[in-house]
Amino acid sequence: MNDTSPAGGAASLDVSIASKDYHSASGRPLRALEGLRLTLPAGQAGAVVGPSGCGKTTLLRLIAGLDKDYFGTIVLPEHGRLGMVFQEPRLLPWRSVIDNIRVAAPQAPEDDIAALLDELGLAEHAAHFPRELSLGLARRVALARALAVKPDLLLLDEPLVSLDAALARDLREMIARLIDERRITTLIVTHDLREAIALGDRLFLLSARPAHVVATIDVPAPRRTLAKETAERLEAQARDALAAAHAGSQPGHP
Ligand SMILES: Nc1ncnc2c1ncn2[C@@H]1O[C@H](COP(=O)(O)OP(=O)(O)O)[C@@H](O)[C@H]1O
Ligand SMILES: [Mg+2]
Repeated sequence: MNDTSPAGGAASLDVSIASKDYHSASGRPLRALEGLRLTLPAGQAGAVVGPSGCGKTTLLRLIAGLDKDYFGTIVLPEHGRLGMVFQEPRLLPWRSVIDNIRVAAPQAPEDDIAALLDELGLAEHAAHFPRELSLGLARRVALARALAVKPDLLLLDEPLVSLDAALARDLREMIARLIDERRITTLIVTHDLREAIALGDRLFLLSARPAHVVATIDVPAPRRTLAKETAERLEAQARDALAAAHAGSQPGHP
């Protein structure tokens, strides 16, 4: 029915989902994804952009292997070790920040964990408990925890959502630096085009539900020094593609 496997050498993410339905006890099945294809080269960051409710989290859950109930094929990067940051940080409430990381990555050397905490500005919070952290800090801990396992694929679900503008910008820059320096193959889900252009080497634009990729746009490298005009041109191009897809899906439209 479906197949998730680490790639044999061709280290990229290759997703082809014929369909994903949710079944409720009553009523018709709800189709979340249909005919969705995307390919991400190794070491690149892909940004999945789509409207709320279109199926983005569903897609990440399939890629992460948390939901096997779909038709299609997902080929993961070599070794297939995953790091995932959910929309909610999901930290263990009875463990300190550093213990949350240790529990998730028991093999990680203490020096590596200390360096990660440092890099994410969490060193002074190592002994704090999740209830003592703001959402922005808790997201950073979730990110540190995902990175501590040295993932072959990092999955981030709306990492900046619900943060105020300044915190979102700080975390965005932190994420951009981390994925650039470490060259981790990363898939970031967002509903914000600017965020996608700031973080992604390749944009995957999704239709409304059932989601499929309506356009793939490569962001010119190096992404971090992208001229403002180029970013604006990409944003306009992406908006046009999304609008065209939306118009095409309206009943009565040719
Ligand atoms: N466990 C579930 N059971 C039934 N429907 C679901 C379930 N999870 C998500 N959905 C529905 O599937 C659609 C896509 O959801 P989701 O992937 O969370 O969207 P997004 O992350 O893009 O906002 C929505 O209509 C949502 O209500
Ligand atoms: Mg979601």
